[in-house]
Amino acid sequence: MNGYIPEHITQQIYKLREAIERHNYRYSVLDAPSIPDSEYDKLFLELQQLEQGYPQLVTPDSPTQRVGASPLKEFSQITHRFPMLSLSNEFEIAAVEAFDRRICEALGTDKVEYSVEPKFDGLAVNLCYENGSFVTGATRGDGSTGEDVTLNLRTVKSIPLHLRTGTHNDHIPTLLEVRGEVLMLKEDFEKLNQQQREKNEKVFVNPRNAAAGSLRQLDPRVTATRRLTFFAYGIGEHEGGKVPRDKHSKVMEYIASQGFSVAEECDVLSGSEELLTYYQKIQKLRECLPYDIDGVVYKVNSLAQQKKLGFTSRAPRFAVAHKFPAQKIETELLGIDVQVSRTGVLTPVARLKEVFVGGAYVTSATLHNEDEISRKNLMIGDTVIVRRAGDVIPEVVGIVKAKRPSNAKIFIMPNQCPVCKSKAVRMPNETVVRCTGGLFCPAQRKQAILHFASRRGMDIEGLGDKLVGQLVDSDLIRTPADLYNLDISALVNLPHMAKKSSGNLLTSLRKSKNPTLARFIYAIGIRNVGVTTAKELARYFGSFNKLMEADVETLRQIPDVGLVGAQSIADFFAEKHNIEVISKLFSDQVGVELKENVNVRKIQDDNSANRINGKTFVLTGTLSSLSREGAKEKIENLGGKVTGSVSRKTDYVVTGEDPGSKYEEAAKLDVTILNEAELLQLLQH
Ligand code: IVH
Repeated sequence: MNGYIPEHITQQIYKLREAIERHNYRYSVLDAPSIPDSEYDKLFLELQQLEQGYPQLVTPDSPTQRVGASPLKEFSQITHRFPMLSLSNEFEIAAVEAFDRRICEALGTDKVEYSVEPKFDGLAVNLCYENGSFVTGATRGDGSTGEDVTLNLRTVKSIPLHLRTGTHNDHIPTLLEVRGEVLMLKEDFEKLNQQQREKNEKVFVNPRNAAAGSLRQLDPRVTATRRLTFFAYGIGEHEGGKVPRDKHSKVMEYIASQGFSVAEECDVLSGSEELLTYYQKIQKLRECLPYDIDGVVYKVNSLAQQKKLGFTSRAPRFAVAHKFPAQKIETELLGIDVQVSRTGVLTPVARLKEVFVGGAYVTSATLHNEDEISRKNLMIGDTVIVRRAGDVIPEVVGIVKAKRPSNAKIFIMPNQCPVCKSKAVRMPNETVVRCTGGLFCPAQRKQAILHFASRRGMDIEGLGDKLVGQLVDSDLIRTPADLYNLDISALVNLPHMAKKSSGNLLTSLRKSKNPTLARFIYAIGIRNVGVTTAKELARYFGSFNKLMEADVETLRQIPDVGLVGAQSIADFFAEKHNIEVISKLFSDQVGVELKENVNVRKIQDDNSANRINGKTFVLTGTLSSLSREGAKEKIENLGGKVTGSVSRKTDYVVTGEDPGSKYEEAAKLDVTILNEAELLQLLQH
């Protein structure tokens, strides 16, 4: 091949690509093919052959690339330009009426127009189109960052590789993010499971799991063999093009015109009565729909009104999901086990005879605490009613008293930790019983380590329940910091740990050493600090040291923290053991370095949380970026003292330009001398 490409070949390739995508759209989105499959296959083969002859013409947006690219080692992360939030869920009619009332009140009107649609039971993804071409696609992940599953999404036929040129055509947006759900049609799910059975491979519990398993495949060729479907429900960031700016329903029409599937059952309605009628209509239709849904979504239709209503930290105020009631089913309560949580709470868990409910097999359900067990009058051996909806955790709602056997047994909460045998106590004003063993208790240690490694924490892949159990039980690790001292020889000696999985774990450990500040705060497991609070704290303090030094008063000021949270944070940092673990994590030996504040390590290595608090400073010479007064104020705000003369009690002498005799005095008394840059660095933490 000399690189010369005849013009007619290029033209033919473009023509074939366009025709194939057009037929693909008719088939996969409109469900109205205009040519038989054999014709389509012919076009596809012709394109494949031409591309084989001229590989330099193969582009990622060619339909031939939908068959799946080479496997990846791992997914990279994509930070969403605009977070992918969730919706608040409501189950009750009264709650929907209250939602409508709230909206009317906030908007100062008595009737609001809503755009309504089914709630797909799949996986949320964000598809990014630049100048009309599909460039990246990501899962929702934690809402702000997801996994880059572009190659897998390219195999999904109902995802256009190019925005369609239709009525809005001459105006291709420079950027358009289309949001929606990837799901597996019921029909395709049945077929897949049939094939899996024939191959003696794992069958999927429900279409949602099958879709998730298929989308999160590292080998796109496997995804290509699974029929996935995409339905759009909205847009994210966009620039240019003729994206409607007035109503959500118009945006949906626009998305459909660009080649995406949207639910046929979308509608525009007004007032809560119409919403509830719609809910009932869709509930009746549910069984006949080609895909699983778990409710309906009501969205304020006017985009101006949406903007006015805004968002809470997790969800938009202008939309709500009205979920279908959870399925309920009877089963037997075989026993009640007691589990110990990360914070030492003893939680009774129902061991159930396996039942299929709400699309999954259920064998256990949390019973929360002993009061809940008495309130529900549960006895071991009872027939219980179990409820589960979609992704909601299963719940024991009550018993069928008439079916209680004569040998049913009462459950008594133990007064000893079932794991470490320490005393278990119930504090006054608390409903829970706690193990008093602290980190002596292996169960608490295991949970703390699992939390540290979790996806929203340090995201250490391959460190699951069983492995942490083995590592703690064999005393190879006691704290999260010990994870980083593991080596291959220790790992391969553990049961079920091959060389490859051990190597993979060490790689994930290495890769986890640069978390964001928010992830790290979450990972260390401060009581009452979840993902959102961790993000708030990271945003507020910007550095880990500042968080460690903060007092309860300061912490209380932060949205999402409150008094209980503030106290938990302060208590956590007052605990010597926690500081030791954190120092170890930041030590040279382990080498954790936070993305946002790289300097934290230096200070940690000094083994002091705060180099200013309680320290005495003397300033000499002229500082260029701060006045003497300004520097003094900053030091004092951080708990330091500024004095006029150098003595043995002085901790630091800060020297600016033309320092006086204080410089020599400091040198004589061996007091640490800082230049201006060093002082500024210190003030930053
Ligand atoms: S609108 C700001 N519309 O439900 C969130 N979401 O709990 C806007 N979902 O992760 C979402 N069907 O993936 C919207 N018709 C629909 C939906 C829908 C399913 C999912 C969505 C999101 C979750 C929210």
